[in-house]
Amino acid sequence: MCGIVGYVGNKNAQDFLISGLKRLEYRGYDSAGIVTLSENGEATLLRAKGKIVNLEEKLLENRREDKIGIGHTRWATHGEPSEVNAHPHQAGKIYLVHNGIIENYKELRRHISGHDFKSQTDTEVLVALINSFYKDGEYPLANAVVQALKLVKGTYGIAVVSAENPEEIVVARSGSPLVIGIGTDETLLASDASALVGHTKRAIYLNDGEVAVIRKDSVEIKTLNAEPVSLRVEEIETNLSAIQKGGYDHFLLKEIMEQPESLAETLRGRINAEDGTVRLGGPGLSAAELRKIKHLVIVGCGTAYHAGLLAAYYIEQFTPEITIETVIASEYRYRNAYIPEDSVALIVSQSGETADTLACLRSIKEKGIRTIGIVNAIGSTIAREVDGGTYVHVGPEISVASTKAFTSQMIAMVMFGLTIAQAKGVPAMMLKNYVEEIVALPEAIRETLAEATEPVKEIVSNYVDYDHAIYLGRDTAYPAAMEGALKLKEVSYIDANAYAFGELKHGPLALVDDRFFEMALLPKGELYEKAVSNVQEVLARNGHIIAITNVEDFDLEVESVLRISSKIELFAPVLMNLVMQLFAYYVTIGKGYNVDQPRNLAKSVTVE
Ligand code: G6P
Repeated sequence: MCGIVGYVGNKNAQDFLISGLKRLEYRGYDSAGIVTLSENGEATLLRAKGKIVNLEEKLLENRREDKIGIGHTRWATHGEPSEVNAHPHQAGKIYLVHNGIIENYKELRRHISGHDFKSQTDTEVLVALINSFYKDGEYPLANAVVQALKLVKGTYGIAVVSAENPEEIVVARSGSPLVIGIGTDETLLASDASALVGHTKRAIYLNDGEVAVIRKDSVEIKTLNAEPVSLRVEEIETNLSAIQKGGYDHFLLKEIMEQPESLAETLRGRINAEDGTVRLGGPGLSAAELRKIKHLVIVGCGTAYHAGLLAAYYIEQFTPEITIETVIASEYRYRNAYIPEDSVALIVSQSGETADTLACLRSIKEKGIRTIGIVNAIGSTIAREVDGGTYVHVGPEISVASTKAFTSQMIAMVMFGLTIAQAKGVPAMMLKNYVEEIVALPEAIRETLAEATEPVKEIVSNYVDYDHAIYLGRDTAYPAAMEGALKLKEVSYIDANAYAFGELKHGPLALVDDRFFEMALLPKGELYEKAVSNVQEVLARNGHIIAITNVEDFDLEVESVLRISSKIELFAPVLMNLVMQLFAYYVTIGKGYNVDQPRNLAKSVTVE
């Protein structure tokens, strides 16, 4: 949720911290702060409410040549967004930045005396606790940090510096990611590798329960129980262009438009178009193990959940003797759900760090069920903890609203379903259409984006002033409608909800009036006529319908029509979703809102 950066080396720490925070701003963005230390231990603490630019203004009058510091961009959990609640927090000579939640902060607060609390945050309790151990003569700083963390219940990724020792940063994690970048005569720290891109390619991903002391020329890692940990240096694969806007006005538009290439990356080397087979190495399941699968549990949050819902519709079409349950991670983690032995769980997450999804992964593993990750962020916690997995390889997704990840997560799951069907002996002839359409999809996406952009732009002005929208679909178009509605509400703040067409008469039809418009997904297929009857019911009540359709002779008298001419049929809802992504984008631009960083939201939800 929040972003952490740190620097110790020979260069200007303020510069790295600010540029790193800007890269992480998409994760959380209600306030930000940095502290740097001079060689003789003088601290410069700068914090500001709002975006990083506000912090940069303060920097103009407080430029320092300091070579060590830590920084943070916040997404409020405890305490409103304000300067006083912004990180770093201070106690004595110690400064700390923190991602996560200290659940027992009230109890811990009772152990602390002599600290004048200034903020309403759980984080200030932690820094005061560390300081109380530090004051008691527990030196070095790492010892005080460990003593304090042993009392903490909750999740954290922290970075701590002491003005008494302006040469080292102590970092620790439990449930909130931290990456240490190894440079030449400098060591960097970030909660997300994207802040390190362009500075170094060598990184160490800290594990839960580890504490590291980082200096400009060394990194030392131990567990909370003081056992030494050997350094695992990995390569950061992301390049600079992947985290820049590349000529687009916003990351959201860039990421929508990137989908032909990002899906091609997901497919690369995994489909043999000639014999129509799918091969996924990552899940690590033999044909015999795939054959045994009788049940799939698909776990995710937000857009990842919708990708799972849609994938389930497809997988059950071609995989015999299988049941599929797609669940919202925040619910599932507290349910007492029985999972049959012959199940496999698909853990779907763009960031690989979503707290609820991670909690489900851990509890499902404990039940002895095999877990397969459908993850984008390489080296993320979920990617590392699953038994096997398929990276979707869509590259960094910076805009808070997820777009390209959805398309690739969905197709990656369908491909996994195809490997099960192949192993279960479903004849290639029966899977042929799915495989052929998947292979054709990147190009169809390119065509659809090109075809739909202008028509979408032409109609959006008619819809920017609405406060409510109903998204409607049947069969595979229903989960697509759910994702379309989520996209619109999260970026444009129009209250949009999705319903299955068949549910209209059971309630939502009562809503139809001039305050609402209706987005109707009308793909060709067996259920088209039934969906048309539902559209007629809305029209009869003077509904304001936008139809998205691939039916050539579509002639219903609706308010607006957005046509798709691609020959893709099975996966037409994927193409319709692109049109809805564009619609959400242009409506939001029409309203003048910040489309990449919607209010109150964060990209990576690392707290419950
Ligand atoms: C947040 C993001 C969504 C995302 C969801 C799940 O709400 O804003 O875009 O779909 O988290 O994230 P994940 O990283 O697990 O896919």
